[in-house]
Parts: sequence; structure tokens; C-alpha cells
Amino acid sequence: MGSAGEYRFFDLTHSSADMHEEVIAGLTHAPKFIAPKYFYDERGSALFEAITRQPEYYLTRIEMGLFEDCLPEVRNLVGEGGCLVEYGSGSSRKIRRLLEMLRPIAHLPLDISRRHLERTAKKLHEDYPQLCVYPVCVDITEAFELPDVVAGQRKLGFFPGSSIGNMEPEHIPSFLRQAAKALGAGGRFLIGVDRKKNVEVLEAAYNDSAGLTAEFNLNILSHLNARLSADFDPGAFRHLAAYNRCAGSVQMHLESLADQSLHIDGHEIQLHRGEAIHTENSYKYDYAEFVALAERGGFRVESSWSDDDAYFTIFLLRAP
Ligand SMILES: C[S@@+](CC[C@H](N)C(=O)[O-])C[C@H]1O[C@@H](n2cnc3c(N)ncnc32)[C@H](O)[C@@H]1O
Repeated sequence: MGSAGEYRFFDLTHSSADMHEEVIAGLTHAPKFIAPKYFYDERGSALFEAITRQPEYYLTRIEMGLFEDCLPEVRNLVGEGGCLVEYGSGSSRKIRRLLEMLRPIAHLPLDISRRHLERTAKKLHEDYPQLCVYPVCVDITEAFELPDVVAGQRKLGFFPGSSIGNMEPEHIPSFLRQAAKALGAGGRFLIGVDRKKNVEVLEAAYNDSAGLTAEFNLNILSHLNARLSADFDPGAFRHLAAYNRCAGSVQMHLESLADQSLHIDGHEIQLHRGEAIHTENSYKYDYAEFVALAERGGFRVESSWSDDDAYFTIFLLRAP
């Protein structure tokens, strides 16, 4: 580890050629899809942060409320010092509570939204001058190694916001095995998980009355226009979000309002009126369902905290 208060940015992302190939593959697939990681350019990250402050979006409010009971217990179990590794760090609003309670030596925010990551990490570095801050721009769904600068340090993983619900359930065990390797023997992983519940509550959270989730969903098209010289007209689509009970997920789509042709770097893509592009799944889990996934990923549940309505659970997992 470097000297106290060190700041270093690590970029582990691939070229835009990979993005191009992945997006074309999704848009020529039946049914069409765009991976949710492409929501997050700077505007997408800012819109997501605004969504978390909407009255319908209970997830952030409840998760941060659970910190009151959870963090003192985590401090008793884990102790102070070590490194915090934050998966999908976003605005890093939540990490401030952990930094104050757990007083780590280093913080590694991992996120795909480069400019937003750089800005929030620099702000954290200013606000906590003794803390080493090592932002890592990376796709956390792929295999990667943490920077050597934290090799041999005790690590606590933190994956808030039920972002794990955006992964397909069958991919979660391998993601967790990879995280267990990165966090080291006996490493702990604190994960926020949104629970199955009343459909009206779930659907309202993804259809806020201020229309921010709709803007966030449509922004994926503007992001592709900017990054891939595509010619999507966001005004020719509408936001849809509904709970699919069989799948156990809130599914977001962009529905085409007209027959239209789109172009991405020489590729023409046809959409007919009413056809939908799938942009995100947010899986919801019963307690036992998530425990089973964690165990398949090689972790055991050391502790957990849920609100009285069982809307949301924070799990503390431990690797062998
Ligand atoms: C739902 S937001 C959660 C933000 C914050 N952790 C919270 O709890 O409010 C998901 C975050 O993960 C990032 N993200 C999404 N997909 C990613 C991926 N494949 N690799 C790395 N970061 C990703 C986004 O940029 C965004 O900051």
C-alpha cells in the first residue's frame, strides 16, 4: 500500500470495439436487448442518483436505515483498518457511513462510469485526506484482478443498492467466487438485496411520478449515440417497467413508438412499432433464495439485517 492519503486511478476497461460488438449482438438478437451497464454515462449516473431520492424508490432509504444496526456489528466483527472494496460505487454516498464507522486505510471504488467515478473518488479523497483512494474503472461482471497496491491487505467487499439484482441469478455464484478470490481467505462481503414483495410497491419504484426512471431508461440511447455514433431518436421510444412474477424480476424495456430503422456504424437495425428493447432486469429475492445463491458462490451468511416489512436485507457473507 502507498503512503497515507495516496490517490491513484486504475483503468481496467476494454476498447470501444468490444462495446460496439456487444451492442450490435444485442440489437440483432431476438428479442432485442442492450446490457444495463450502458445506462451509466455521466448523465445516467446523475439520473440514477436522483432516482434514489424519489419517494417511490424505497431501496436506498431502507438500506441506509439498516446501516444503523448493521455497521456497529460489522465493526465488531471486522475491526477497523483494512481496505473497503465497493462494487458499482456510483455516487459513493453510502460508503461515507462505512468510512466513518470502519475507518479503513484504503477505499477501492469499482465502477464502469469513468467520469462519474473519477469525480466522486476525487471528492472522497478531498474529504478524507488520510484515506488512500484507488478508483478502478472496470466491468465487474468480467474476470479482473484488484490492483497490486492493496495486495496482502484485509479486505471487506461492499455491494449496495441491490445492484446484484441486475445480474442473472445463474451468473451470481461465479461472480461471488471471483469476489471471494479478490477479497482473500476469510474475506467478508456486505451485500444489499431487494426482497420479493407487493407488486404495486415494486412497480412504483421503477415508474416514479417525476419520470426520472423513464429518463434514465431513455438515456441509454443517447449514451449509445455518443459512444458508437448511432442515430437513435429517444423521442421515438417509451419507457416500460413491470414485475414479471415468474422470473421474479422488474423488467425494463424501451418500446418503439413507430416502425423505424437505426444505424450503428454501417449496421442497419429495423424496429417495428410496439417492439421492445429489453434494457434491465432487477431480480428480487426471498431470504432463502439469496442464501442458496451465496452458498453456491462459496460464501456462508455470517449475519443479516432486514427491515420490519422485509422489503430489503443486508447480508454479511464470509468466505472460507
Ligand atoms: C444501481 S447503481 C447503484 C449505485 C450505488 N452503489 C447505490 O447503491 O446507490 C449501479 C452502479 O453500478 C455501476 N455499474 C453498473 N454495471 C456495472 C458493471 N458491469 N461494472 C461496473 N460497474 C457497473 C453503475 O455505474 C452504477 O454506479
